[in-house]
Amino acid sequence: MSFERALLRDVAPYMPGEQPTGDIIKLNTNENPYPPSPRVMEAIASLSAQDVSRYPNAVSQRLREVAAERYGFPGPEWVFAGNGMDEVLAMTLRTFVDPGDTVLSTYPTYSLYEVLVKLHGAEWLTADLTDDYQLPEGFADNKARLCFLTRPNAPSGVAVPREVVEQVCETFDGLVFIDEAYADFANDSCIDFPHRYPNVIIGRTFSKSFSLAGLRLGLAFANPEIIESFMKTKDSYNINAVTQAAGIAALEDYAHMETNVARIKATRRRLTEGLRELGFAVPDSESNYIFASREGARGIFKRLKERGIFVRYFHERGLDVGLRISVGADGEIDAFFAALEEIIGDSKFGRE
Ligand SMILES: Cc1ncc(COP(=O)(O)O)c(C=O)c1O
Repeated sequence: MSFERALLRDVAPYMPGEQPTGDIIKLNTNENPYPPSPRVMEAIASLSAQDVSRYPNAVSQRLREVAAERYGFPGPEWVFAGNGMDEVLAMTLRTFVDPGDTVLSTYPTYSLYEVLVKLHGAEWLTADLTDDYQLPEGFADNKARLCFLTRPNAPSGVAVPREVVEQVCETFDGLVFIDEAYADFANDSCIDFPHRYPNVIIGRTFSKSFSLAGLRLGLAFANPEIIESFMKTKDSYNINAVTQAAGIAALEDYAHMETNVARIKATRRRLTEGLRELGFAVPDSESNYIFASREGARGIFKRLKERGIFVRYFHERGLDVGLRISVGADGEIDAFFAALEEIIGDSKFGRE
């Protein structure tokens, strides 16, 4: 496989040409199984022809105002809106990192960071998480321009304690990007850190808890100096009119998101306990996915795929022993368990 294809394989749900057809159960990209707020759909439907024929608000002003208020910031000058958090990550490199600089993260972590850092011509430095997915001693003493911390971590779902992240923000001599893509599924978050730490950027996405992956919307919260730098380097109209309207409506119906998150957390508990009963080791996840390890993980992955059930398998050090499974709707998890029990119970399994 070429380098580019290998990278694509790592971040894309399917390779070109292998988009599945027919009934599949998709538990491989951590999307939300529930629909977004009806108010989002109404906001999209009520856009006028002119909203579409004219350029959108170039700085997503109203969206940033609503987001600032929702998340306890003094005003929109503390908020940047990106075309998905992936754009915010790329923008962070473009704005604050020079080719040749070092960017620090953990191993394992969200795989796109490495792709973006290498494309940018920067050095990629990682420190291994401990066996229970905690930050290693001395992590913040590493010398780098920028550090990416995923909290909760991907793909383990484990959130390192807030106090530990606080220590990193205080000690690390550079920018700290705290990726909170899954924070709505966690017990707490670091969303208040930018008030205290001028070197901290909090990244959020609407793709997970708000069920808006198809619209592409991410936010960054940081002190106004950082946000101003983002504004100078961003594309002119980086958030389209549909996405701006949808994002505002989603934030205004926050309760809808919280209800879906509560359902997903209940299913996560059932998924975790069921897998442990089947002999999998599953760390407690604070995300909308779990990482489950057991002998024969790769074979299980393949057999689930043959049955149209997609989970994620990583051919990577330390991760090739397990499966990352998104928390789907209850019916999807029922079907997953039925297939899994069949696979594990098959007398031929493990002997191929
Ligand atoms: C840890 C992490 N950060 C960022 C993202 C990107 O989110 P978005 O869909 O907003 O680009 C993802 C998507 O899976 C993720 O897992």
